[in-house]
Amino acid sequence: MVVIKVLVTGAAGQIAYSLLYSIANGDVFGKDQPISLVLLDIKPMMSVLEGVFMELQDCSLPLLHEIIPTDNVEVAFKDIDAALLVGAMPRRDGMERKDLLKANVKIFENQGAALNMYAKKTVKVLVVGNPANTNCLIAMKSAPTIPPQNFSCLTRLDQNRATSQIAVRLGLSCSAVKNVTIWGNHSSTQYPDTTHANVCNNDGNVTVYKAVKDDEWLKGGFVQMVQQRGAAVIKARKLSSAMSAAKAICDHVRDWWHGTSEGHWVSMGVISDGNNYGVPEGLIYSFPVTIKDQKWTVVKGLSIDTFSRERMDESAKELVEERDMALEFLSKSA
Ligand SMILES: NC(=O)c1ccc[n+]([C@@H]2O[C@H](COP(=O)([O-])OP(=O)(O)OC[C@H]3O[C@@H](n4cnc5c(N)ncnc54)[C@H](O)[C@@H]3O)[C@@H](O)[C@H]2O)c1
Repeated sequence: MVVIKVLVTGAAGQIAYSLLYSIANGDVFGKDQPISLVLLDIKPMMSVLEGVFMELQDCSLPLLHEIIPTDNVEVAFKDIDAALLVGAMPRRDGMERKDLLKANVKIFENQGAALNMYAKKTVKVLVVGNPANTNCLIAMKSAPTIPPQNFSCLTRLDQNRATSQIAVRLGLSCSAVKNVTIWGNHSSTQYPDTTHANVCNNDGNVTVYKAVKDDEWLKGGFVQMVQQRGAAVIKARKLSSAMSAAKAICDHVRDWWHGTSEGHWVSMGVISDGNNYGVPEGLIYSFPVTIKDQKWTVVKGLSIDTFSRERMDESAKELVEERDMALEFLSKSA
């Protein structure tokens, strides 16, 4: 089988530490798919990255054809088939949202340009580093020779959190819950929507609303819990989600690579063409999608009630503001 080249940025960071083993072990691209793994981080992290490199070697993984640790963007993006852009500028104490966005625009503009220049035109790009939707938009805009459909951002962690909370509430396995949707931004305005979700329980296949029998919770406490889950993990762990983020990255990329199963959809931040669910054109917005032949399609025709409409619009509004601010930084750096 032909070796594929997979880049992970932020490779010396904590998400990468939970992620790299699964990728190299074949859990994402397939158990028979040899991989050349490229690890990019910034210069001050090279000694840590060397340790990660050694550990990956020590795992003695048969699919791991080659490991390339580097701080050189050209080396990192050369001929890659998949880019998992995890590294980003973290928010420091006292840092304004505007300054954080500005620093990240610079990073994702450079990485978008590198994708444009060095990567395969078929490359699939997943942006994880926050603010993920807007960073994804900047990378996409900086890589005009790569189809916009090849860019996505991670909202699968939010989907997994939501699915799991429904399962816990019903005392079921999370595999019994399907088609929970995350709409919008990977931020506290995201909207976890169970209107069209189903569970398989003793009554057969029923809607989540029917199974839970607590509309107030599904529209209130549940939504807030999912929206605030990242902050709750930070409060408890003094570090942001890493193991669950890595698992969600694996789920996202595996489904993009191999497709979704019949009757299931997943949530991904993807480019809006303006024709779906009243979301403005040109935003990277989380939609329910199905995937076939490595191409995603937004699930059409879901009914949207007033409660959902308000939340979906609120998240779109936040994304428009973020986009406008980011594009201003981008035009100034041009
Ligand atoms: N979308 C999501 O669901 C989701 C979930 C969890 C975390 N995140 C985000 O993922 C990012 C990474 O989280 P983490 O916990 O691994 O952080 P971390 O601070 O442990 O690691 C980040 C790594 O990125 C590196 N880095 C910074 N700038 C870089 C650049 N220009 N090129 C390459 N590497 C660079 C850093 O040196 C560091 O090693 C953060 O932005 C976090 O907010 C997103």
